[in-house]
Amino acid sequence: MKKLKVAVLGATGVVGQQFIRMLESHPSFDVAALTASEKSAGKRYGERVRWVVSGDIPEFVADIPIVDIDASSLERRDIRVAFSALPTEIAQETESRYVEEGIAVFSNASAYRMKKNVPILIPEVNPEHLTLVDIQKERSPGFIVTNSNCTASGLALALKPLIPFNIAYVTITTYQALSGAGLPGIPSLEALGNIIPFIESEEEKVETETKKILGTMEEGGISNAGFEVNASCARVPVRDGHLESVVVEFENETEILDIEKAFIHFSGMPQQLKLPTAPQNPIIVRKEENRPQPQLDLMAGYPSRAAGMAVSVGRIRKKGNKISFFLLVHNTIRGAAGASILNAEFAYEKKYVR
Ligand SMILES: NC(=O)c1ccc[n+]([C@@H]2O[C@H](COP(=O)([O-])OP(=O)(O)OC[C@H]3O[C@@H](n4cnc5c(N)ncnc54)[C@H](OP(=O)(O)O)[C@@H]3O)[C@@H](O)[C@H]2O)c1
Repeated sequence: MKKLKVAVLGATGVVGQQFIRMLESHPSFDVAALTASEKSAGKRYGERVRWVVSGDIPEFVADIPIVDIDASSLERRDIRVAFSALPTEIAQETESRYVEEGIAVFSNASAYRMKKNVPILIPEVNPEHLTLVDIQKERSPGFIVTNSNCTASGLALALKPLIPFNIAYVTITTYQALSGAGLPGIPSLEALGNIIPFIESEEEKVETETKKILGTMEEGGISNAGFEVNASCARVPVRDGHLESVVVEFENETEILDIEKAFIHFSGMPQQLKLPTAPQNPIIVRKEENRPQPQLDLMAGYPSRAAGMAVSVGRIRKKGNKISFFLLVHNTIRGAAGASILNAEFAYEKKYVR
């Protein structure tokens, strides 16, 4: 397959940087354009970016100028795919302009996630939702595929193998990393040695997006999953990685061993298709009594291109019809840039982008 030229929108932010890191030497995508706000436009990427993700700024990108390009100039540059790491309020207008110009937008922003014909895609969980793009293409030359809120991405992955056990109710409490707030982020005086029990709109996003992701495709669109999700979200002084305490109530009693097996054996289309960013095992079960931990389990996922793409679960417990566990998801990889890249790899494989 030929390599596709791609743009990264919002390339200087936390998620934008993770895109750059993960797209280095990618087998299918070549970074050909970078955008950011007006204050960054015209500067070389290496000069402008305040690099906060692991490793050094990849050499291939250091001299690329940051441009304030409009959608039509992307087309002239033969770029048909854009990875968006734009703030939601900017994404709203920008992404729809790109779609009008025939660009396939893979977005991290929440602006279009809950729109009827826009999928919140996790190819291991709801690959069939990609067909919503066919409906979008009846009206516009391009399309938008979103990935979910970072917390919801880990939760939906862990809940998918539990669907056959008949979920009645999900309660989730989170311990979310500082990088989830982007740059410049939360002031250090508020973050250090502290826990903030509020993240704007986060609980609503987790509750609604999870039900859409796990919904079933029907004639008129997606029919949401039938169980309720109740979320309580807090920001903790951890750099990367959202830890989530999950309690799943089932219609009937289930056994820990069956739940554990369902996690361990879970795999989906990305694994079958051997997509470059797909982790061999999307869910890794930790048996130790004190795992998963952000410091130890953040980069779970094999091979190296999929590091950070696996969700780690542990401390599986049972009380009556309820199963409790902790899960850890890398918020800027499986919860953001890596998720978008996997979505684009899947769409490329399915010939939605060419
Ligand atoms: N961080 C996470 O864990 C996470 C997870 C899932 C989803 N998301 C979503 O992903 C998106 C990016 O998040 P982030 O954490 O990377 O944010 P961020 O660090 O604040 O980065 C925002 C990016 O957008 C650019 N930008 C700001 N205003 C702009 C404008 N008016 N026009 C064009 N570009 C503009 C910034 O450029 P300058 O450097 O020039 O200002 C920067 O490149 C958000 O929608 C967020 O909700 C984030």
